[in-house]
Amino acid sequence: MTVYTIQGGKKLKGEAFVGGAKNAAVAILPACVLCAGKVTVENIPRISDVTTMLEILRSIGAQVRLTDSTTVEIDASGISSRPAPYDLARSMRASYYLIGATLGRFGKAREAMPGGCDLGVRPIDQHIKGFRALGAHVLTEGGYIAAEGRNGLTGANIYLDMASVGATINIMLASCLASGMTLIDNAAKEPHIVDLANFLNAMGADIKGAGTDVIKIRGKQSLAGGTYAIIPDQIEAGTFMAAAAAAGGDVTVTNVIPKHLECITAKLCEMGVDVEEYDDAVRVVSGGKLTAANVKTLPYPGFPTDMQPQMAACMSLAEGTSMITESVSDNRYKYVDELRRMGAHITVDGKVAVIEGARRLTGAPVSACDLRAGAAMIIAALAASGRTTIEGVRHIERGYEDIVDKLRALGADIRRREHYAEKAKQA
Ligand code: EPU
Repeated sequence: MTVYTIQGGKKLKGEAFVGGAKNAAVAILPACVLCAGKVTVENIPRISDVTTMLEILRSIGAQVRLTDSTTVEIDASGISSRPAPYDLARSMRASYYLIGATLGRFGKAREAMPGGCDLGVRPIDQHIKGFRALGAHVLTEGGYIAAEGRNGLTGANIYLDMASVGATINIMLASCLASGMTLIDNAAKEPHIVDLANFLNAMGADIKGAGTDVIKIRGKQSLAGGTYAIIPDQIEAGTFMAAAAAAGGDVTVTNVIPKHLECITAKLCEMGVDVEEYDDAVRVVSGGKLTAANVKTLPYPGFPTDMQPQMAACMSLAEGTSMITESVSDNRYKYVDELRRMGAHITVDGKVAVIEGARRLTGAPVSACDLRAGAAMIIAALAASGRTTIEGVRHIERGYEDIVDKLRALGADIRRREHYAEKAKQA
């Protein structure tokens, strides 16, 4: 088993370069299924969710070639509509985008129910409602979702009950080759929704309104190939910002879109951190002394649920009492017990967490129960006194590229090692 060990208490200094956005990449790569020609996708993040998605595409017959560590060529012209291997598909959330993309291309799809981080109940009723509105019969059976539009798919007006990221993406994928116009009302507005629409439009789709509440998709006969570069990752950038805030120091986070970071910047400033914005970078200067704040997670442009655990780590160190209201995910406080091991004072009641700032955390053996929980453990460990060992790093490496090297370049004392080495040292 691989673990990270972190000796806390070092201030961070220097530059952190942000990679391509995970949640854009895991939507754009399956979208290549809709394209008749070769697609070159640049700025893909070097993370295991991308590796899994590329393996899934290969397994259904796509030709996939990495031309360098962040660029991939995909030719999906020879693929079939057969399902991806069950265990691969259920190992990640975004495998469900294969349903929208395959349904869009072949008029039928069958895929395993998705996996992903355990954030409580994660229904997909809005995806199914969207596929049905486009004319598909949808069944869930034996761990699979099967969808088929026997008479092809036809554009429709679809009102989402909540601004679901996944449903918005899946309906965009299923509808861009449907006949007629599709309208998604109460659509999600996250940066990766806009990035996917820009990608599809660059390949010949006709999608308007991405980034607003209403997205209009005029179905086209076919999509071509082309070249597209993925946007930088909002949450990776926010995680480095939170790390600098908690540990203290002077960190410039580069290759970012500052507009995507506004709510994170505003919250850190409220907590006493200096944040300067440049064209494609933000500089975070922190003395390591934070003041309490309240945060409520909301769909974009609100505060992202994917930054909630990292903020909890910062708030655990802040002076005063902070409150978090989680209004997007069903149950995203599983990491709290692990932060408590490090001395955090957090009580959770339903969607609300109250954090009594401890000012001082101490290193401990902890476990990353999901991707962003793992990021919170790293942040707490960087600021804590003493040594922390983090297990479950496979969750972290699903979504953060080269995080150990990037933090070491900032002066952090963090190492990735095998657990047996740990045990031998302790013995
Ligand atoms: N929901 C439903 N029915 C649906 C869809 C959603 O009830 O059909 C509810 C659920 O309560 C769910 C919530 O709405 O928990 C949010 O769901 P959404 O569809 O917006 O999220 P998702 O597509 O499952 C994506 C990201 C998550 C991120 C959320 C919210 C991907 C692959 N995943 O999940 O990312 O937390 O949007 O922004 O894009 C992460 O990167 O760590 C991560 C978990």
